[in-house]
Amino acid sequence: MPRRVLIQLDGDTQPSTFDAIVAVDAGADVLLQHGGVTAAGVVPLVHGAMFTRGGGGLASTAIFVGGSDVAAAEAVAAKVQEAFFGPLRVGVLIDPSGANTTAAAAVVSAVRHLPLGGGSAEPLAAVILGGTGPVGQRVARLLAGKGLSVAIASRSLPRAEATARLIEKTASSSRVAAVEAHAPIQPGTPLAKVLAEADVIVAAGAAGASLLDRAGRSLVERARVLIDLNAVPPAGIDGVLADDKGRTEGHAVLYGALGVGSMKMKIHRAAIERIFTDNGAVLDAEELLALGEALA
Ligand SMILES: NC(=O)c1ccc[n+]([C@@H]2O[C@H](COP(=O)([O-])OP(=O)(O)OC[C@H]3O[C@@H](n4cnc5c(N)ncnc54)[C@H](OP(=O)(O)O)[C@@H]3O)[C@@H](O)[C@H]2O)c1
Repeated sequence: MPRRVLIQLDGDTQPSTFDAIVAVDAGADVLLQHGGVTAAGVVPLVHGAMFTRGGGGLASTAIFVGGSDVAAAEAVAAKVQEAFFGPLRVGVLIDPSGANTTAAAAVVSAVRHLPLGGGSAEPLAAVILGGTGPVGQRVARLLAGKGLSVAIASRSLPRAEATARLIEKTASSSRVAAVEAHAPIQPGTPLAKVLAEADVIVAAGAAGASLLDRAGRSLVERARVLIDLNAVPPAGIDGVLADDKGRTEGHAVLYGALGVGSMKMKIHRAAIERIFTDNGAVLDAEELLALGEALA
């Protein structure tokens, strides 16, 4: 059995040690780390993976695409796939900034509490606070893919609108709206209205950003699921604790960053396993969600 070689392609100068450690813990025997990787320079690295081990050996080679610049990583991932042809391909996991595994874990946590496919005329509604960031955008995309109507909240309406249009392109059957968010949230504003009508609220703002304070939470009327992905105090959603993992409060269940984080780690490890067993696998947010749903 050839040793499992993971090629870590990271756009940052210093490849992520977090991603490296998870890879080793998930069964990579050898880790080849490349920093400062760009779409323009990636093809020779991919050819090195494709042309060394033929046949069954290809499955023992895999590629991880990471880095803090999500758009740059997506461009790298696209070039990686363009370089493959015929059976000459290796498994690929795309998870810049942990955004895909984190979003998949958040959505796995949310949907287990939702009556999806209930035949209701009105779609369930979600609000993603901090929805313009890498994690929030993917949470929105995955929930839209599940048929929810989604509101992207941002301090900048144009930024929220640009994100909403981007997501609508990939999940055309759902409604994706943009809403401006400013603290403190005022009753009667568009944000107050979508919060009142939301079934799911996810806070995906920057670390340490409070997006729904106590007064803001009083505007929430019917939400069944509240998820706060921020682990750095103060909480992104007032009253949600970092280690909440399905704690019930009133008619809502609460998840905090660590509560979601344990599912994120499971998905990340399972994804590394998968790319070493299926050399045709390309694991982006949607595939990671499916993996997470199978683990849940
Ligand atoms: N649990 C886990 O395993 C895990 C893994 C990865 C990330 N995370 C957490 O997930 C969250 C989202 O990650 P990310 O990388 O997508 O975050 P990010 O890019 O740093 O921030 C997301 C959005 O937050 C908004 N924002 C930034 N500063 C703000 C402030 N001071 N006040 C209010 N809003 C602010 C921005 O939106 P606008 O400027 O458009 O308003 C930004 O697009 C973070 O808290 C991160 O720590 C958790």
